[in-house]
Amino acid sequence: MNLFTNKELLTAARKGGYAVGAFNINNLEILQAIVSAAESEKSPAIIAVSEGAIQYAGLPYIVSMVQIAARYASVPLSLHLDHGRDLKVIQSCIEHGFTSVMIDGSHLPFDENTAVTRKVVEMAREKGTSVEGELGRLKGIEDKVSVTGQEAFLTDPGSAEEFVKKTGVDALAIAIGTSHGAYKFKGEARLDFERLREIAARVEIPLVLHGASGVPRPILEKAERFGAKLSGAKGIPDEAIQKAISLGICKINIDTDLRLSFVSALREILSTKPEEFDPRKILGPGREAIKETVQSKMRLFGSSGKAG
Ligand code: G3H
Ligand code: 13P
Ligand code: ZN
Repeated sequence: MNLFTNKELLTAARKGGYAVGAFNINNLEILQAIVSAAESEKSPAIIAVSEGAIQYAGLPYIVSMVQIAARYASVPLSLHLDHGRDLKVIQSCIEHGFTSVMIDGSHLPFDENTAVTRKVVEMAREKGTSVEGELGRLKGIEDKVSVTGQEAFLTDPGSAEEFVKKTGVDALAIAIGTSHGAYKFKGEARLDFERLREIAARVEIPLVLHGASGVPRPILEKAERFGAKLSGAKGIPDEAIQKAISLGICKINIDTDLRLSFVSALREILSTKPEEFDPRKILGPGREAIKETVQSKMRLFGSSGKAG
C-alpha cells in the first residue's frame, strides 16, 4: 500500500465513530511494533514523528523505514509530523513525502497562530499533504487554578470555529485538560467534556486529542518493580478516552505509554538476565511490549477491524 493522508484516515474515522491512534516513533523497533499491532488488529495507524525524533534518527532513515513499512503493510498507515514548529523542518517533511504535518502555533497569540498555520496550509496544498493545527495549550486542569485562569489556555469554541475558517486546516488539536507526559493530574483526572461538545458543534473537521496516554498501572508497577522511579505518575482513564471519542475526537496521540512499555520490558530483562548483552534479546521484548500496548489502544479507540 501507499501511505494515506490523515485527512483520508480521519474522515473514515469520523464517519465510523472511532478514533485513529497516532503513535510516536524514534527507531525501527517502535515502528515495527506499531505496524505489527495494526496488522494484528486490522486497524489503520498514524505514524507520528516529532522534530526531536527527526533529530535523533535522521529524516531519510525515518522516511525510508516508514515508506517500506507502508509498502508491505496490509493496513493503511500515514506518516505525520508531530508538533512541527520550524517551518524549514515542515517544508522538508512535505518534500520528503510525509502525508500529514502538524503546525503547532499553540504558544503564539491567536492572530500569529492563525497566520503561521495558514502559511503551512498553503505550503502543503501542492502535494496534498494534510495539515493539523493546534489551538489552546496542554496544561491539564488543576484544582488550585481559578476557572478564569484555566479558560485562558483551554480551547475557546468560538475561536476554534474562527481558526478553522481562517486557516483551512484538515484537523484541529484542542486543549480540554490533557497534558503531555506521565504526570497529568495531581488528584482526580478532569477533562472539560462540555467544552469538547461545544467545539464539535461548531467545527466540522476531525478533532485531535494530544496528551492522551493512560499511564496504565500494571506497566507502571512493572517499571517500578525493576527500579524505575515514577511516583505520582497518572494518565487519562480509559472511560474518559471513550467519552471523548463519542463527542467527536477522531485522532488520539500516544507516546508516553509506548515509552513506559518499552522501558519496563528493558528494565525487566536487564535486571533478571544480567548476563545478556545481545541487543536483540533486550530490544526485542521492548518491541513486543509496545505492540501489546498499541493493540490495547486500538481496541479502546474502536479502530480494530476498521481496516478490512
Ligand atoms: O508530544 C510530544 C511527543 O511525545 C514527542 O516527544 O518531542 O520528546 O519526541 P519528543
Ligand atoms: P502523551 O505524552 O500523553 O503520550 O501524549 C503524546 C502526544 O500528544 C504526542 O503529540
Ligand atoms: Zn502532542
